[in-house]
Amino acid sequence: MAEPSGTTRTKEQWGTRLGVILAVTGSAVGLGNFLRFPGKAAQYEGGAFMVPYFTALLLLGLPIAWAEWALGRYGGTRGYNSAPGIFRAVWPHRISPYLGALALLIPIGVYMYYVYIEAWCLGYAWKFATGQMALGSDKTAYTSFFASFVGLGENGAAFTAARDSPVDSALFFLVLCFALNFFLIYRGLVRGIEWFCRWAMPALVLCALVVLVRVLTLDTPNPALPEQNVLNGLGFMWNPRTDHQSFLEALGNAQMWLEAAGQIFFSLSVGFGIVLCYASYLRKDDDIALSSVTAAAGNEFCEVALGGMIVVPAAFIFLGPADASRAVGSVFDLGFMTLPMVFNAMPLGQLVGTLFFGLLFLAAVTSSLSMLQPGIAMLEEALGIGRRASVALLGFITAIGAGFVVYFSKNAVALDTIDFWVGSVCIYIVATIQVFLFAWVMGTERGYEELNRGAEIRIPRFVMFVIKYISPLYLLAIFAAWVYQNAGSYARRIAEEPAVASTVALIGLVLLLFLLLTAQAVRRWRRAEARARAEAQP
Ligand code: ALA
Repeated sequence: MAEPSGTTRTKEQWGTRLGVILAVTGSAVGLGNFLRFPGKAAQYEGGAFMVPYFTALLLLGLPIAWAEWALGRYGGTRGYNSAPGIFRAVWPHRISPYLGALALLIPIGVYMYYVYIEAWCLGYAWKFATGQMALGSDKTAYTSFFASFVGLGENGAAFTAARDSPVDSALFFLVLCFALNFFLIYRGLVRGIEWFCRWAMPALVLCALVVLVRVLTLDTPNPALPEQNVLNGLGFMWNPRTDHQSFLEALGNAQMWLEAAGQIFFSLSVGFGIVLCYASYLRKDDDIALSSVTAAAGNEFCEVALGGMIVVPAAFIFLGPADASRAVGSVFDLGFMTLPMVFNAMPLGQLVGTLFFGLLFLAAVTSSLSMLQPGIAMLEEALGIGRRASVALLGFITAIGAGFVVYFSKNAVALDTIDFWVGSVCIYIVATIQVFLFAWVMGTERGYEELNRGAEIRIPRFVMFVIKYISPLYLLAIFAAWVYQNAGSYARRIAEEPAVASTVALIGLVLLLFLLLTAQAVRRWRRAEARARAEAQP
């Protein structure tokens, strides 16, 4: 068993149990719950999608979340908060800390585009609140508003828009989001993350409930089309469609199984390296078994009960099945073009729009905050610097990355490329590494003990069998099928599109940076261990 790292930093810890649960739930509840999930579920036949979705939750999401919490707490009680340190504590092999660099690339890479979408949400909430989103009932008005706000037409367009009209631009809102995120991260675990999640989580659930009540009490807008009502809207979202295929035929769609697994990882923030980092700030005997389930349950409530009942039924009631089907295929279309138009068409629409984008913004902040903490922990461990310096350095690194995403905005190409390579491919890899470390290196006996120490619920033993055999096999099968289906076209895009190639180069540079930081951290840990050994000599 590895000894404490010997770092001289004061160890931060969570203030309360509720605080850590809200922080992990906050990390999980995000744009994925309110935009990505409803879109995917409606696109893949609603009711049928829930079968692969819950299968992935039970066989991948929950078991890997338990493994991630356990690995994180294990590393944390040995003095490490960074993924390289935690992996090295579990598996003292030369290569293990370098595997941890991938668990840093994910949160930081995803942050670089996620914070831009967060800025759109803040911008839309502000524009709804001030009446600037009253763009009428023609979808093209919303499409062109979104395109010019985000800069979809041309690379660099968002910068030009910011020069012409600074306080109206997405860049302005991006600066605000950056400032808020880094201010909270600078305040630390308890006064920053925990404090923010404590009020933001209830506030966003409250906003969602108000919007939900509004949607579920909507009258049919056009008496000539009585079938466009709430019940049919819910049916459109949840019924396994039987008009063109049976339930079993719908289940035979392999792509749906892949997307459902990807949604579970993205939504629970599992395989991101985030839970690993958050759990490392727990105490040795703090419960992880129940906390993990509570956070996952909170996420599922927000995703299935709130996200799943608001977005698609609202679009259905106002647009009908054909247009709603078209909109749900793209998260951006659904969230930033269709929904604003739908909100404007309903009674109290300005309030509903403000609340909806306000809750999206809060959900996004609690997630983006969690993406920064792993980077902060790494910088502090690798360079031995304090909070002020690590926040400044990470701010600089992520500002370059986000600036890159904002610049390469034509058809959101940089955003899309990072989402694919980092937010999807790398997540499968890190999830696999974590399963390997937990079930095969730590071993099921020690792993089970670790999971149950301080536990408020008893995790059944067969869960270890699931983690050891079922999860990795499921993961590898899904990953292989997914690479087979998608990687070819994405690889071709690298060769053909310079903006895609540049984005992949950026991802490579960020990974290189984390590998170098890992090498530096390993040097410091070795020195500290040598010192500790020398002091222990009689
Ligand atoms: N888990 C976060 C989300 O769902 C990343 O948006």
